[in-house]
Amino acid sequence: MTDHRILVTSEIPEPGPTILREYGNVTFCDEPIDADALRTAVTDGSHGVVLAQLRDRFDADLLSRATLAGISNYAVGFDNIDVDAAQRHGIVVGNTPGVLTDSTADIAVLLMLATARRAVEADRVVRTGGFQGWQPNLMLGTDVSGRTLGLAGFGRIAKATARRALGFGMTVLFCPRPPSDRDVADHELGDLVGRVTHVDWPTLVRESDFLSLHVPLTDDTRHLVDADVLAAMRDDAILINTARGPVVDETALVEALRDGVIAAAGLDVFEREPELAPGLADLPNTVLLPHVGSATVSVRSEMARLSALNAVAIARGEEPPHRVV
Ligand code: DGY
Repeated sequence: MTDHRILVTSEIPEPGPTILREYGNVTFCDEPIDADALRTAVTDGSHGVVLAQLRDRFDADLLSRATLAGISNYAVGFDNIDVDAAQRHGIVVGNTPGVLTDSTADIAVLLMLATARRAVEADRVVRTGGFQGWQPNLMLGTDVSGRTLGLAGFGRIAKATARRALGFGMTVLFCPRPPSDRDVADHELGDLVGRVTHVDWPTLVRESDFLSLHVPLTDDTRHLVDADVLAAMRDDAILINTARGPVVDETALVEALRDGVIAAAGLDVFEREPELAPGLADLPNTVLLPHVGSATVSVRSEMARLSALNAVAIARGEEPPHRVV
């Protein structure tokens, strides 16, 4: 059956709504949909396609009951969808790759600089009247140039982060599929051939001054950074996470930051968003951002365009421009 009705679960920016209105057969939710209403809308036959957000969860049980042709995710990541189950039930899944690569790499570098140079702490010093003039020992941080950045994962965002770090004079190591390994051909490295070094996961953990996570959330990467990995890191190392919160055991991270096992952490994602692990927000050696890797006006609008095009294509029974399964 074609010409399915599309459910848009939350507000998205232009040109998404315009593309969807041109298609016509659309329900826009004024407020983000809750889990019960989503379950009803995708199982009662009223909608064939969902333009979904990361907060909309499609587990195997829901997908087994869903009367859906497809889901168009307003994100490049799709860990909110059990894609194996979607594939089993013939439900197409689309995403928004490519358009948020640079903005997310920018946030990884921003977190690296902000943690190394204690930018948030320093801002607080100024605002609370603690700045009494230049002092030799005020807010001393860590250099970035000449230090080693370790990239866990080696997809688009990791590579864009590598290019930025090389510009800062850093040494860049990468482990393409932690905690295991895989070969990386020169053509995959492209312009980074000879400029970055492939190492295994234990080496990456041990040798990185900054360990930056760029892996999807899967069964293999859930709690990839746990208490053991944190203990194996240098005690002056800084952890950066712009990938997915559950890749880090946040409770173990709080303990490690509190006990000086590692020096600092810059986080754009959290294990149980929007909640934080107890104690995390009290630690001065953290910079915490509210999942804003893709949060620029132009990127969010490109994501809206791609996700709307994916949704309309699926609704018409056509191949979506960006298909996961
Ligand atoms: C994504 O797209 O997966 C980001 O986490 C949100 O933009």
